[in-house]
Amino acid sequence: MKIIFATGNRDKMREIREIMEGSSYEICSMKEAGIDLDIEEDGSTFEENALIKARAVADLAPGAIVLADDSGLEVDAMDGAPGIYSARFMGHNTSYEVKNQYILDRLAGLSAEERTARFACAIAAVFPDGEEIVIRRNMEGGIGEKMAGENGFGYDPIFLPKGYDVSSAELPAEEKNQISHRGKALRAMREKLVEYASAHCQ
Ligand code: IMP
Repeated sequence: MKIIFATGNRDKMREIREIMEGSSYEICSMKEAGIDLDIEEDGSTFEENALIKARAVADLAPGAIVLADDSGLEVDAMDGAPGIYSARFMGHNTSYEVKNQYILDRLAGLSAEERTARFACAIAAVFPDGEEIVIRRNMEGGIGEKMAGENGFGYDPIFLPKGYDVSSAELPAEEKNQISHRGKALRAMREKLVEYASAHCQ
């Protein structure tokens, strides 16, 4: 059975392929499925945005299972911002060095208890029979006092996962995947997809 992952992001494709390895599914990118679509993410939650993307691609891919994800950083002292606007925060073309410095400045003087934050990832699946599932998982933590680390991407240099005294940009990729919002959501989705395959395929 075929799964289309509604993303143009190579790293996300690699991650889903690794996590689905050994399953009976063939995993395709949108491009490999011949779908070129610019989808407006106008939902108000990670879950809604993931579903909007998955539904839009599912309309063009009858018979396939379509997955899509949406993720971001919620900073409690900023009322949950940047949240669903994480990629667009301060403009798509603004560097993460500038975005991260802005968040550090906003939180200047706050104690560790006041610096709580989390990464969230929602993954939606739309099945050929119309069934839909959305799974959200978080990685809890806080915003550090400075940027640190070269691994990862985006807001990783300022994010300290709970129980760690290093940023998620200082963790090796495999270690981050074990605890990350996206790793946890993908592994939970894998379980649902394996259940679906055993119920629907001989
Ligand atoms: P999207 O899920 O591709 O829409 O991207 C969400 C945005 O959230 C990314 O561009 C990053 O800014 C941020 N983000 C999501 N997950 C992570 C992560 O694991 N580390 C750092 N930033 C992240």
